[in-house]
Amino acid sequence: MLQTLFAVALLCLAVDADHVEEDPHWGYEGSTGPAFWPSLFPEFCSGSSQSPIDLNDDDDTLEISTDDWVLDRYDIIPNKMIIKNNGHTAQIEWTTTDITEVPNVSGGKLGDSYAFAQFHFHWGEKNTRGSEHTINDEQFPAELHLVHFNTKYDTIGDAVQKGDGLAVLGVMLEIAEEDNENLSPIIDGLSTIVNADSQETLATPFRLSDLLPADTSSFYRYSGSLTTPTCNEVVTWTVFENSIPISEAQIEKFRELLDEEEHHIEDNFRPVQPLNGRSLKKIQLI
Ligand SMILES: *[C@@H]1O[C@H](CO)[C@@H](O)[C@H](O)[C@H]1NC(C)=O
Ligand SMILES: [Zn+2]
Repeated sequence: MLQTLFAVALLCLAVDADHVEEDPHWGYEGSTGPAFWPSLFPEFCSGSSQSPIDLNDDDDTLEISTDDWVLDRYDIIPNKMIIKNNGHTAQIEWTTTDITEVPNVSGGKLGDSYAFAQFHFHWGEKNTRGSEHTINDEQFPAELHLVHFNTKYDTIGDAVQKGDGLAVLGVMLEIAEEDNENLSPIIDGLSTIVNADSQETLATPFRLSDLLPADTSSFYRYSGSLTTPTCNEVVTWTVFENSIPISEAQIEKFRELLDEEEHHIEDNFRPVQPLNGRSLKKIQLI
């Protein structure tokens, strides 16, 4: 149990982390920034299958597949959703983690089925940066990560110890003129969690399918890691080719969040890591 708590806290997956201290402390700049993670967290952050990466069409192999996405309960509106500021990002969870009740993703060449755990965002101080993955060297202003764990494991704490433990769906955000109404419940929630280590009930729960691009048929796939310490190499990554919109006013609300030192949370992305000969696929579902 303790070990699980410890792992989950470190991974920043369970957040407020029941106030287990992350040891050592990490951030996105200075002496605890990404360049120092390999020495601060040598077990995995110094590994050779790290994330994010540049999703480059020069490196990928194209695969055509009929294995449609199966997005179970992605259309359910839960009774309650929790939004948290964990000092590194804004994260949203359901109140239940029972895999028979939470959304579940399979198909899309994943092989296994994966239960939803949480989603969170990475964003820039400016619109020219913010995403973790890049596509053909282009960085986007923000990236959404929907984190799921393999339903063959009991908890996400167990899953982060296994090579096939997690599946993360990544969605790029692009600046648009109009507000994205599907993001409104989250944007409204941000003003309630400005301070680090705060959490609130989201006033308007919504369905996860609202966060996916309209067309999910084209995506990049590779094996990598958590993009935050302890950087466990346990993630089957999917990054959709199509993005979702966000307005300037909406992205500004993310930039108003504060970290533990009361600095604005911005540029909370890890730079791209080397592919190191890994297989990178671009999959087109037909
Ligand atoms: C996850 O979804 C798959 C496909 O719809 C289904 O067969 C499986 O029972 C679901 N798992 C859970 C725990 O609900
Ligand atoms: Zn992330």
